[in-house]
Amino acid sequence: MGNIQLKRVTAPLQGEVYIPGDKSISHRAIMFASLAEGKTEITNFLDGEDCLHTIDIFKKFGVQIEQTGTNVIVQSKGVHNFEEPKVPLYFGNSGTTARLLLGLFSGIPYFTTMHGDQYLTVRPMDRVVNPLTKMGAKIEGRQNGKYLPIAVRGKQLQGMTYEAPVKSAQVKSAILLAGLFAQGNTTVIELAKTRDHTENMLRAFGANIKTEGLSVTIEPVDTLTPVNVTVPGDISSAAFLMVAGAIVPNSSITLKNVGLNETRTGIIDVMQKMNAKMTITNQREISGEWLGDITVSYSTLKSMTIDGSYMARLIDEIPIIALLATQAEGTTVIKDAEELRVKETDRIKAVVDVLSTLGANIEETEDGMIIHGKTALRGGNISSYYDHRIAMMGAIAALIANSEVWIDDTDSINISYPAFFEHLNLLCKQ
Ligand code: S3P
Repeated sequence: MGNIQLKRVTAPLQGEVYIPGDKSISHRAIMFASLAEGKTEITNFLDGEDCLHTIDIFKKFGVQIEQTGTNVIVQSKGVHNFEEPKVPLYFGNSGTTARLLLGLFSGIPYFTTMHGDQYLTVRPMDRVVNPLTKMGAKIEGRQNGKYLPIAVRGKQLQGMTYEAPVKSAQVKSAILLAGLFAQGNTTVIELAKTRDHTENMLRAFGANIKTEGLSVTIEPVDTLTPVNVTVPGDISSAAFLMVAGAIVPNSSITLKNVGLNETRTGIIDVMQKMNAKMTITNQREISGEWLGDITVSYSTLKSMTIDGSYMARLIDEIPIIALLATQAEGTTVIKDAEELRVKETDRIKAVVDVLSTLGANIEETEDGMIIHGKTALRGGNISSYYDHRIAMMGAIAALIANSEVWIDDTDSINISYPAFFEHLNLLCKQ
């Protein structure tokens, strides 16, 4: 039974909020700043739990990292002067940290052991362990390296060309990081273009990376060169508020400094196609990434089919899009989304459970879900599955429910958006 009551609203949402730093970019900024020799300043860093684990891990290699809220100063002697960690490294809930660092650790000359929380410990690591092993990596882990805990004896790897069988930026990034200090070039060929923050930022830190269509090639480097990073707001966090603005009657809200990298903006395309009223202003480029301000207003929504052609650009937004679809006229089909089964939790099952508890007309399919709208949502007791994006989706659904919604836990939200309720309250105040 849930013991936390979620807020309902009777008035429109209004006002503006500054969206906190992007989780993917914050992780990478800490990683590359730690590898580089010298000082890097990171601004608008996401001080969410996942990214704090990335900081703690690099401190164990002797890197000096000073974090004051969203400002971080990294002072490193460079990867060639790392200290070997004397203790097992803890990854918490962070799949991105675990998978990217499996790639990095495989190719640098240190022994590391990795473990995580009960959720990360059942997420598949073989999608990176198998290709890394082909590059010569020495990795031992539970069930042949499929799951954490895992130990890595880092060594010089051989570059390779890898056709990734899953659409995953984590897999692509892990292989590229393994290629960073390998012998010869490393190429990853993707099935669809996934988020390219690793490529953009490594380039800024001085690596030679070429992208041609779906193929990315990295040349080995000796060292990386520090460059200050300003992190754009996380569109995957903004997405929850964007949908709130679109479904709470008569709302109009502005979300400032949202990252608009085109590998991440599938949510904007989908919302516009579903007839959501949105405008994007103040578009500009900072630290090699586009950002802007998004204004979303309430409107009558219509259904659509979201298939594999969208998936890589909105994979983290499916839970909140499913909620949006409950408020759209017609049948929304979400397919080719089987990756959701191996996220922080099985998000297909979790979304269908939460939304059907709240009265939505939603069916689970093997690779997605089918939602018949528009349905008035009711109150109920929901589970967050200790998944930050399920908890935030539940909190936005509760806004428009016609009676009380209770949830078991909201702490998981600190993983990616610690200021979530504060921001929601700002928009709900009027
Ligand atoms: C991420 C890639 C995506 C995404 C995750 C962050 C990244 O995962 O779901 O939240 O920072 O590279 P996959 O690569 O598993 O799709």
